[in-house]
Amino acid sequence: MENQILQFRGELDEAKLYYQPSDEFDKTVKTRYEKMPADIFATAEKGAKWVAHEIANLIKAKAENNDSCVLGLATGATPLGVYAELVRMHKEEGLSFKNVITFNLDEYYPMNNKSAQSYNYYMDDVLFNHIDIPREQINVPDGEVSKEGIFNYCSEYEAKIDSFGGLDMQILGIGRTGHIGFNEPGSQLDSKTRLIMLDALTRRDAAKDFNGLNKVPKAAITMGVGTIFKAKRVILMAWGEGKAPIVKKALEEGQSDSVPASYLQRHNDVQFVLDVPAANELTRVKQPWLVGSVEWDRYWIRKAVVWLCNKLEKPVLKLTNRDYNDNGLSELLAWYGSAYEVNIKVFNDLQHTITGWPGGKPNADDSNRPERAEPGQKKVLVFSPHPDDDVISMGGTLKRLVDQSHEVHVAYQTSGNIAVADDEAIRYLSFVKSFAQTHDTNEAICQV
Ligand code: F6R
Repeated sequence: MENQILQFRGELDEAKLYYQPSDEFDKTVKTRYEKMPADIFATAEKGAKWVAHEIANLIKAKAENNDSCVLGLATGATPLGVYAELVRMHKEEGLSFKNVITFNLDEYYPMNNKSAQSYNYYMDDVLFNHIDIPREQINVPDGEVSKEGIFNYCSEYEAKIDSFGGLDMQILGIGRTGHIGFNEPGSQLDSKTRLIMLDALTRRDAAKDFNGLNKVPKAAITMGVGTIFKAKRVILMAWGEGKAPIVKKALEEGQSDSVPASYLQRHNDVQFVLDVPAANELTRVKQPWLVGSVEWDRYWIRKAVVWLCNKLEKPVLKLTNRDYNDNGLSELLAWYGSAYEVNIKVFNDLQHTITGWPGGKPNADDSNRPERAEPGQKKVLVFSPHPDDDVISMGGTLKRLVDQSHEVHVAYQTSGNIAVADDEAIRYLSFVKSFAQTHDTNEAICQV
């Protein structure tokens, strides 16, 4: 078994070849589906540090020329590592922010600027309170501006950026809607700083910070796509597999107002900085055979053949030579001689992942089983990201493990309490209460 784990680890390491090109030529080949430069870092922490150093280098270069450095800043989870590294560089290496002028992308509206959910508070908390930037050089959109004054306020914000000669560098995150700043789908390339209604998905993503969806503001003030576009250099960061589908759309598909980040394809100095999970849907990572030669092993052969089945909507044993040839998989035919041989190999491989003994079958030959035979009784720890993911996704497996005398534990990774907004919970409780009263059920329920 240990050998199997090591072999699998080796295969995963091998996979890195496909997302870390060896030189510029290799990079051009591997990124042929990507319409903007993108670098994939092994971890979000490494990516964030790299971005922080790019910012620090710019600040220092400008300071040497007695120039100010105008930065466009983002909030949210994505840039936290960047700010932490900048604060560290300030404290430990003396990086000074005296020549820095900042403009933040956005702020919820309406929003008390002092409230813990505001982006004004966030910026003080994670960056401004810990560095030597003069207060008057900080600009974050005002969540308290009057409704009548918003239009003028936004034009002045825009004009103020221009008065400093525009942004030298803009850092961005990306929302799952494809928004940059709060430019939701439908935003135009030449849009300016303005009030915008937030997309339902964006509000849902923000619900965790506001303790429930109903408390998330419905609008925000945001720099426009046109404002961001005027920045001399743009770096967009994305971490985590939740961002992978939208990263693929923005990087590999055409420009469209349904994915505002895709407009960046027109910018002449833009760069995506990704961690491996956020890059997971990119062709060079997910289907490397489409961008070059692959060192075929069990992991990649199975991945490619399953991909081909899904694409052509065919069962594995029905794939033909032509199917392989037409879809960038002729290397596999060369290896195995015919589609028939590859099909059988993968079919058997898949067969061996299916078992009625998820904890291993005691005293059985386990050379082709997914789990070891010994020890016969195991301690099983099931990680469930959310309560009920365990029973919904693998209730049958859990039952078998228990029936087959294993000691089974489930670890819930979140309580799940904010998945249901308070008003929803109250609505159901009042329904139960009135149902109980109408049907004269026992008093205990009425106490609810
Ligand atoms: C924040 C901003 C947004 C976020 C985006 C991603 O100022 O403009 O576009 O960058 O919503 O949010 P996180 O980083 O929390 O995933």
